[in-house]
Amino acid sequence: MFDTMTVTKIAGAFFGALLIFLLLNWAASVIYSTKTGSRHGPKPEVAYLIEVEDDSAAAPAEEAVVIDVAALVAAGDVERGTRVFKSCAACHGTTPGARKSGPTLFSVVGRDVGSVEGFNYSSAMSGFGGQWTVEALFAFLTRPKEYVPGTIMGFRGIKKDSDKANLIAYLQTLGG
Ligand code: HEC
Repeated sequence: MFDTMTVTKIAGAFFGALLIFLLLNWAASVIYSTKTGSRHGPKPEVAYLIEVEDDSAAAPAEEAVVIDVAALVAAGDVERGTRVFKSCAACHGTTPGARKSGPTLFSVVGRDVGSVEGFNYSSAMSGFGGQWTVEALFAFLTRPKEYVPGTIMGFRGIKKDSDKANLIAYLQTLGG
């Protein structure tokens, strides 16, 4: 009973309405996201996060973990380092030949590992080799027992990078 013209009109009206509905829907979602973004703080770009679908996106985050220890220590605060050193002072002196349960830290930066004359190091420490560069100290002080497995230094480590940097900046001031 419907002729071609009627069918075309009905279909036209239907698809026209559908198009308008989709457009309104899209417009509403754009407006809505932008509004929520600005209402909940200065991050309207959250509305566009869906775009990020890239394998390489994970790579820069890992690179950011690499720490420029030398730069951190160079910018270290000696005064604050003195305060961090309080957790070492029970076991370490800072003058030449100072004897406590640990070896003196006088001029420790750049010193050969396990080289204080007459100190009874563990075999782990005396056989470790190398020197106490700022990088080595940074790694050692993060987790002493991981860096020198078998060390008898009873200290669990320092978490905060800034604490370690300040401490090493202070250690650098100890002797020549
Ligand atoms: C509970 C005592 C104790 C504390 C606390 C402690 N140390 Fe030690 N430390 C030792 C002992 C003991 C050794 C020798 C370890 C060995 O022979 O295995 C040592 C070794 C070291 C060495 C290697 C020295 C060398 O001559 O090769 C460094 C560097 C060092 N400590 C730094 C520190 C710093 C910095 C702190 C504070 C953040 C600290 N230690 C806290 C007891 C301690």
